[in-house]
Amino acid sequence: MIKTLAPKSPDPLLKIIKMFREDTRSDKIDLGVGVYKDARGNTPVMQAVKDAEALLLATQKTKTYVGQQGDVDFLKLVGQLAFGEMARDFVSIQAVGGTGALRLGCDLLRESGAKRIVLPQPCWPNHPAIVRAARLKALDAPFFDVAEQRIDMDALMDGITQAERGDAVILQAVCHNPLGADFSADQWLELADALNARGIIPFLDLAYQGFGDGIDEDVAGARAFLERVPEAVIAVSEAKTFGIYRERVGALYVKSAEKARPAVMSNLAAIARANYSMPPDHGASIVREVLGDEALRQSWRDELDAIRGHMKRTRAKLAEARVNSLPMHLIAGQKGMFSTLPLSEAQVGRLREEHGIYMTDSARINVAGLREADIPRFVEALKAVA
Ligand SMILES: Cc1ncc(COP(=O)(O)O)c(C=O)c1O
Repeated sequence: MIKTLAPKSPDPLLKIIKMFREDTRSDKIDLGVGVYKDARGNTPVMQAVKDAEALLLATQKTKTYVGQQGDVDFLKLVGQLAFGEMARDFVSIQAVGGTGALRLGCDLLRESGAKRIVLPQPCWPNHPAIVRAARLKALDAPFFDVAEQRIDMDALMDGITQAERGDAVILQAVCHNPLGADFSADQWLELADALNARGIIPFLDLAYQGFGDGIDEDVAGARAFLERVPEAVIAVSEAKTFGIYRERVGALYVKSAEKARPAVMSNLAAIARANYSMPPDHGASIVREVLGDEALRQSWRDELDAIRGHMKRTRAKLAEARVNSLPMHLIAGQKGMFSTLPLSEAQVGRLREEHGIYMTDSARINVAGLREADIPRFVEALKAVA
């Protein structure tokens, strides 16, 4: 039977990574890969993470399994960081990265009777795959005008009408990947009212806390939204916030009526048990140590502030550029690592072939991948193709 398997096409980003690697031009620019890079093009380990690891190495007494729910102190600290006091009433479980949390959440929604999940488009390209893997139907809802760099709430509301009571919609909490465009405070509240009226469950994806305007500022809209809805599922990734991508640190939080919570917890435990049994410990322990210690926490916050400052400066520089029809000034107002430029696949191809500048075919750029010294050349290349 195995010999009958049909091959699957690889992630399109892998193709870009390979082409970049094989490009021999010394001034090539990589805006494709979705990791933070500092001014020297490195993705460094944060000092607080190094210090927490040293502490763990010196003090950890056992490597036996953590419990089914995962590290409870980690879950409390991350919950507090993301949702404040509200988190005390949320059911939570550690997950294998934000991706694992998204999958747990989709499986839970299916168990609870959901059949469809609305995906505001463009979305993170892994969302549809996760939804389908959980045997849910992915419904596309276009919601962003790339030419004008503007969220179209009417289009989103229209898209949501495809869903039925008990279905869900995935909403990115902050620093949208791939758009960099987030809901305003008013849009969050409008969404809460619309979902409540139709009985649609919000599934929030929080993967970039601290990359926008600040730890608390970045979740203000999502918190106000969560206060207003009776039920919600939230996937959290700490990959970017702590720069610990490969440690696979994430968690799933569920807001529900008090009497439903034991069933939510036991369903999540059963889904996790049949999937990977127990979560990994190291990355969650790092986050627990950093958040639980005043000095480490301060050091981490300082470094995160610097990371955010670097991205904001790059955005501000890009916004000063005048590139024919491209609305460069709007990019400055966007948040996090990503923006999507209104370029055709042919224009993206010319940037790659003629200028050695790499981005996804959909023209998503990783702002953090652009070194200050490369900005003028990037702008000139944009002028040549756009
Ligand atoms: C929007 C979004 N959600 C979730 C994730 C998952 O992060 P991870 O599985 O690496 O924790 C990512 C990672 O790129 C993302 O961009």
